[in-house]
Amino acid sequence: MNAPELKLVVDNTPERAAGVSRFHESARAQVAGAATYIDDIPEVRGTLHGAPVCSPVAHGVLRGIDASAALAVPGVRGFVSAADIPGDRILAAFGHDEPVFADDTVQFLGQVGGLILADDAMTARRAARLVRWDIDPLPPVLTVQEAHERGSYVLPPVHVVRGDAEAALARAPHRLAGEFEVGGQEHFYLEGQIAYVLPLEQQQWWIYSSTQHPGEVQHWVAHALGLSSHAVTVECRRMGGGFGGKETQAGHLAVWAAVAAHKLHCPVKLRLDRDDDFMITGKRHPFAYRYQVGFDDTGRLCGLTVDMLANCGFSADLSGPVADRAVFHIDNAYYLEDVAIHSYRCKTNQQSHTAFRGFGGPQGVIAIERIMGDIARHLGRDPLDVRLANLYGIDERNVTHYQMTVEDNILEPLMTTLAGDARYRERHAQIAEWNASSPVIKRGIALTPVKFGISFTATLFNQAGALVHVYTDGSVQVNHGGTEMGQGLNTKVAAIVADELGVPFERVCCTASNTGKVPNASATAASSGTDLNGRAAQYAARQIRQNLAAFVAGLDGCGAGAVRFEGGRVISPHGTRPWEEVVGAAYGNRIQLWSDGFYRTPKIHYDKVTMLGRPFYYFAYGAACTEVAIDTLTGEYRVLRVDILHDVGRSINPAIDIGQIEGGFIQGMGWLTTEQLVWNEHGRLLTHAPSTYKIPATGDVPAHFHVTLWPEANREDNVHGSKAVGEPPFMLAISVYEALRDAVAQAGGRPEAMNAPATAEEVLRTCG
Ligand code: MTE
Ligand code: MOS
Repeated sequence: MNAPELKLVVDNTPERAAGVSRFHESARAQVAGAATYIDDIPEVRGTLHGAPVCSPVAHGVLRGIDASAALAVPGVRGFVSAADIPGDRILAAFGHDEPVFADDTVQFLGQVGGLILADDAMTARRAARLVRWDIDPLPPVLTVQEAHERGSYVLPPVHVVRGDAEAALARAPHRLAGEFEVGGQEHFYLEGQIAYVLPLEQQQWWIYSSTQHPGEVQHWVAHALGLSSHAVTVECRRMGGGFGGKETQAGHLAVWAAVAAHKLHCPVKLRLDRDDDFMITGKRHPFAYRYQVGFDDTGRLCGLTVDMLANCGFSADLSGPVADRAVFHIDNAYYLEDVAIHSYRCKTNQQSHTAFRGFGGPQGVIAIERIMGDIARHLGRDPLDVRLANLYGIDERNVTHYQMTVEDNILEPLMTTLAGDARYRERHAQIAEWNASSPVIKRGIALTPVKFGISFTATLFNQAGALVHVYTDGSVQVNHGGTEMGQGLNTKVAAIVADELGVPFERVCCTASNTGKVPNASATAASSGTDLNGRAAQYAARQIRQNLAAFVAGLDGCGAGAVRFEGGRVISPHGTRPWEEVVGAAYGNRIQLWSDGFYRTPKIHYDKVTMLGRPFYYFAYGAACTEVAIDTLTGEYRVLRVDILHDVGRSINPAIDIGQIEGGFIQGMGWLTTEQLVWNEHGRLLTHAPSTYKIPATGDVPAHFHVTLWPEANREDNVHGSKAVGEPPFMLAISVYEALRDAVAQAGGRPEAMNAPATAEEVLRTCG
């Protein structure tokens, strides 16, 4: 069957690979079912399948685990638990506070105490249910408020203070105080967590892992098995989505499977069933807030104090940096002069909450956006005016609460351009008029900005490596430390390399991430995949180009600088040759046709203790204008219209960037509307499948959904003038939440009482 002709917006510079909307390198294979995920890899003979054995209670002293009934099931080959770990029983995670398998205590309902191994996955799962736990239950801590009262934290609190917030509050013309909660979020990657572990000869290991961080999987497995890192190779061709959920959580599965493979001397595959994935793995951190804000008659802030309670679950995992990023983003787009932020990293008997798109940023941004909306309604002003009145300035009011100067501020022109294009002012007035004559259905509108800091806040992670190989036929293979999770990283990196070598995009192919090719790579996270790996690959390609330029210059008796690489040709003052011909001749003359590349982000620094400095290389900006309609009798609603203007710098691939903006927005909308995690009074997660946990579907995409890209290049020297795009648009969905609160206000309800997610029940409740 022939693939139908697909059309994309393509610009008129076919000679260049970057800046052009082209398909994701795997798009066709993915829709045809021909792209390989780990569960598709042909299994080696003798492979056993694992199933997790999960704690039935949230907290207790673990006396023992009895697997005898499970082991009696035909087809079951073994059971592994903490006692079978040859190396450290504690995971090599940052906090070193998380056991590989539950050891003498259980800390959440769903915690894995071991694996049952069987000839097939279903047998293993059925048998795992026959395992008996012997636990003396202890009272669990299930809410952040309770944890905070008891001083139960995974990490010490962090306080960031500038000026004198208390004094500023005392002299402010107006004051508001409030409390609210924002729920967590399940990653719901389409491909669940999976690892396939193959023991090789002489204590060497090969691991397929669906991970955003192959290097960490390598490190964790080596640590648990008591081996050096060089004994373990981890490979990941692609993930069926990660969204932060495979930044650390993928490592657990690989370690569990490796311990089993070590004990039973055979390959082990571990693929979590969806319900188990929900019950075991960490989610976005739920947050609770208490704030006091003072402001003047225009709504401009005078003083602000915020307590943020992050629900970290039972261990630190990435909670420190996630809660830090919430602190760094509580300003969002606004200048906070006298401010005191208190961040508490609460320990609860829940799954250990982890990275999720935005990495704590959304939990910071939503707090200040909510406060802006509340101030506007308190003063009877248009929320857009209050937001504009508080924006960072250009030459003054431009230093963040963590002492970074905002040098690349485009917030004001970006927001006013969007307000004009989306006709915000007219529609705001029309909606009020419409609502006056509509007793049951009420509409609401909101325009909210985002400013998101790009770089890992842990400065050391902002480094990357790549390898570029040119083969004698002129084809090019690229390998870099990043991972592909659907975001289009490989497509962008291939385009960058193609342009560096002046060859058509089709000549370049990116291969699976592999710890044996590029070592010590950071997680593909913090939206920095292209910034870091794209640059590293560009530098590698540049080295090869220079080798070839010197070679051609030698032939033609010209300077190497006079040799150009364009459109599959090598052009010197002397004449033009096909790329392939030059490559072949260079090989014949023993010229190196491959190279490595290394990049580290410049300018960044920050003090981990005081949290002051320049943690971010630059900011990505955007704004969204959203209109909703609510039914005040049922609480049901629809998102009617969304207009987005977002800054990706000079886009490397507009189609992919727009896809990231649309996807990020819709995922953020899910977080704030229908995706509700419910734990019962025993700490059992009740919403552990799509039957009870509702992510947005195609029917929830607004009928009018318009995304425009800001036309300016990145003002910092970033690869091709681009900006990172993976996470920032997620926070544009706060406009949906603020539009819903506007509609509730217009219905005479209590928007200040609305928690997130704004489910239909929550909208109905706050409508009064
Ligand atoms: N897009 C898709 N399709 N799938 C994903 O899993 N993850 C997001 C974002 N976009 C994700 C995605 C997250 S959390 C991050 S940090 C970035 O992609 C990571 O990739 P990048 O740094 O290459 O943008
Ligand atoms: Mo993204 S949360 O940084 O993996």
